[in-house]
Amino acid sequence: MKDMIKQYGNYFQLDTSNTTYSFRVTQTKHLEHLYYGEKIKIDSEDEADFLYEKHEFAAGNTVLYNNDNVNLTLEDERLEFSSYGKGDIREPFVIVTGEDGLFTSDFLFKEAKITKGKEKFKTLPGSYDMAEGVDHLEVILLDDNAKIELQLHYFVYEDTDVITRSAKIVNRNEDKSICVERLMSTQLDLDADDYVLTTFNGAWAREMEKHEFKVTAGKHVNSSYTGTSSSRANPFIMLSKENTTEDFGEVYAFNLIYSGNHYEAVECASNHKLRVVTGINPTNFMFKIAAGEAFEAPEAVMTYSAKGFNEMSHNMHEFVREHITRGKYKYANRPILINSWEASYFDFNESKLLKLAKAAKDVGIELFVLDDGWFGKRDNDKCSLGDWFENTQKLPNGLEGLANKINALGLDFGLWVEPEMVNVDSELYRMHPEWCVSHPDKPHSEGRNQRILDLSNDEVVSYIIEAMTKVFSSANIKYVKWDMNRIFSDYYSNALAQRGVFAQKELSHRYVMGLYKIMEELTRRFPDILFEGCSAGGNRFDLGILSYFPQIWASDDTDAIYRVGAQNNYSYGYPQSCYTAHVSACPNHQTLRETPLDTRFNVAAFASFGYECNLCDMSKEELDEIKEQIEIYKKYRQVFLYGDFYRYDRKNTDNLYQWIVVSKDKTTAIGMILQKLVNANTTFNMFKLKGLENDRKYLFTNRVIKQNIKNFGDLINTQSPIHIKNKSFLQHLVSKFVSMPGETEVYLSSGSAFMKGGVKLTQAYGATGYNDKVRYFQDFSSKMYFIEEKIIEEN
Ligand code: GLA
Repeated sequence: MKDMIKQYGNYFQLDTSNTTYSFRVTQTKHLEHLYYGEKIKIDSEDEADFLYEKHEFAAGNTVLYNNDNVNLTLEDERLEFSSYGKGDIREPFVIVTGEDGLFTSDFLFKEAKITKGKEKFKTLPGSYDMAEGVDHLEVILLDDNAKIELQLHYFVYEDTDVITRSAKIVNRNEDKSICVERLMSTQLDLDADDYVLTTFNGAWAREMEKHEFKVTAGKHVNSSYTGTSSSRANPFIMLSKENTTEDFGEVYAFNLIYSGNHYEAVECASNHKLRVVTGINPTNFMFKIAAGEAFEAPEAVMTYSAKGFNEMSHNMHEFVREHITRGKYKYANRPILINSWEASYFDFNESKLLKLAKAAKDVGIELFVLDDGWFGKRDNDKCSLGDWFENTQKLPNGLEGLANKINALGLDFGLWVEPEMVNVDSELYRMHPEWCVSHPDKPHSEGRNQRILDLSNDEVVSYIIEAMTKVFSSANIKYVKWDMNRIFSDYYSNALAQRGVFAQKELSHRYVMGLYKIMEELTRRFPDILFEGCSAGGNRFDLGILSYFPQIWASDDTDAIYRVGAQNNYSYGYPQSCYTAHVSACPNHQTLRETPLDTRFNVAAFASFGYECNLCDMSKEELDEIKEQIEIYKKYRQVFLYGDFYRYDRKNTDNLYQWIVVSKDKTTAIGMILQKLVNANTTFNMFKLKGLENDRKYLFTNRVIKQNIKNFGDLINTQSPIHIKNKSFLQHLVSKFVSMPGETEVYLSSGSAFMKGGVKLTQAYGATGYNDKVRYFQDFSSKMYFIEEKIIEEN
C-alpha cells in the first residue's frame, strides 16, 4: 500500500499520481497553504523551506496577528482556512457566533491524524473508495476561548488526481450553544492572480452556458439560492491560465457534493493572491449547534491538470464514475428508453401508451417510461401532486396492469414521480397543509402551481419514503425518474417554528439533509431500480444527486443544436453516463427548429440515451433510420457511456463541435463533428483523432447516409431529365425512389498518424458540384465516425 499523505514535522504533503498539495503549521499554529500543482518531490521539512512565504515586517494598514509576531498579518498569508476578526479580511472559510454575540474566531492547530478509509458522513453523501481505502488526513484545530473545534478532512484519490476536502465544527462547550453562520468546504489560496474563472450558468431549458471571467481584482461569486444546486449556476467551476486549451495548459477544477444552495467565491485580494472558497451558500443560512454537537459541511472536490481541460475532465469523470456513482448501474448498460412526455404530455390512456410501447419495441427500444399525468386527477399541472395513486380513468388496469402489458411486449417499465411536491388541489394538501414550506398566515408565491413539502420535518420524510415504497412496489418498475419542478420561495417550516426565530435559516440545509435520507433509504430498498434525477431538466445536476442516482435528465430542451453545447459543457465536470439525452420530434418542441434525424442521434448518443417523441406518427423511412441508430448505440454502448471523452478546441467559434470517445482498452473510438450554420465555399474539415494507441493500426470509417433529394431544392433540375418544382408533389414522389449518395470515408493507418496528421475529410459541399465524394455538411449537419483497431497479420 502506498502512503499518499506525508507529514514531516510541521509540513504536510498530499500526493496523487500527478499532483501535489501541501501546507504547514506555522509558529503561531495557523495553517499556511504552500502548494497545489504538478507533482513535486520534497523529502523533509527543511526542503520545504523555500515554499514558505517570507515576511519580516507586516505591510502598512494591516493588522498584526499579535505583538509577538511583528511580521505576521493574516491578510497577507495563503491559508488553508480563514475566519474573520484576526486580520484576514478576505472571504472567510468559517464564521461561528457564540451566545455572547462574538464572531471573531482563532482556530489553532491541535493535532493531525493520518489514516486509511473513510467513514460515512452522518448527514450528507460523500465520495467512497472500494479498493484499499482512501488516504485520509484529519487536522484538528481549536478555538480555545470559544471552546469550538474545527476539523479539516482531506481525502486523497491517487488514481484520479482528485483531492476532496470537508470540514466539521464541534461545539466543545459544556452548556452553551453556538451558531454556525458560514462553514465552507474548501479554501484554496493561490500565489498568483492571473487566472480565468469559468462558470456554467443558465436557466430552464438553457442549462450550462459557459462563461469565462478574467479575474483581476475584487470578487466573483457563483452561487445558487433556488434551494437546489440550480440551472442558474452549476456548482462545478474551473480556474485556468489564460492560454489553457483543451489539451495544453494549467487548470484547477472544483465541485461540491451537495444539492442545495451553494457558493463559490473567487477573490483576488490586495496582495495579488487568489482565494477560492466553495461550500454551502451563507445567504440566509445559520445552524445552531447545541453543546457537544457537531455540524458537517459538504465534501468539496478538487483536481489539477497541467495538460488542459480534457485531462482535467478525465480526472473528474473517473472520480465521479469510481468514487461517486454507486450500485448496480455504475458501469451497467443503461437501457435505451422511450419517454412518454413529449409524445403525449398529459393526454394519454392505456391503449395510446401501449401503441407507443409497441412502436418502441419494433425499433429495438428496451424501456418504456410513463412520465407525468398518471396519478390522482392529473390532466394538467394544476393538481394532484401528492396523490400517488393511479388515475383509473386513464389507467383502468392500474400501474400493475399497464406494466404487465408493457412487459409482455418485451419492454421494461419505468415511471415518473415528483415526491417532494404538493398541489394545493390534492388530497395530501387538504390533509396536511402544515407539511409544506409556507407560512400559515401569509400569502404564498407558487411555482408551476405547486408547493414544496417540508423535508426538514421527519414526519414528511417518513411519509415520502412510505408513499414511494408503495408506488415502486405496486408494479414491475425497473426505472424511476425523480423530478422536482419548482424553486424555493417563502422559506418557512412549520416544524421548525418551535425552535425559535433563527431556526428558519436552517431550513434550506435541513431540506437537503431530509432529501438525502429519503434517497438513501429508497435506493437501499430498491437496489434494482435505475433512478434518474430531474429538476425541471437540469435544475439539480450535482454530485449529491449522483451519489444516489447514477444519471440525471440534463435539460428540458431536447433540441440537438442546443444540446450539443449543453453536453459539451456538462462534460467539463461530469462523465457522459451521468447525463441523459433523447432524440425528439421536429420541429423541436422547445425551439421549433428542424434538425436532421441523424444529427439528433449523433448528439444524444454521447450520453445515456433514449427517445422522447411519438414514434406512432413517424414515417417508415424515419423508423428504419431509428432502428439503425439503435443498433449502432447497442453495439458501441459501453464506449459511448464509459469511454474517455475528448472535446476539441473551438477557436472562439460556437459553430463547429467535435467529440471523440475512446474505449478504455483503446480498441474502439467514435467521433462526431457537427456544424451549426454553413458558410459558402468552406469545404475543408479535419478530424484529428485523440486518445488512440500510437503504434496500433486503426480503420476509420463513417456512417454513410444517403441524402433526400428535397434537401437540394430546385438544384435537382441540373440532373433531372424532367423539371421538378421545389416542394411539389412530384418532388415528394421522386424522393421516395431516388436519393443522393452519401460520402464514404475509409482510411487505415496508425494511431499516431491519425492523431498527429488528422483525417482530411472529404470535401464538403461548396456550391460547385455534388457526387458520392462530397460531404453534405449544411446547417445543423453532423457526421459520426467509427475507429476500430485492425490487427494486421504479419506474414
Ligand atoms: C419536468 C421534467 C420533464 C417532464 C415534466 C413533467 O419539466 O423536466 O422532463 O417530466 O416535468 O411534468
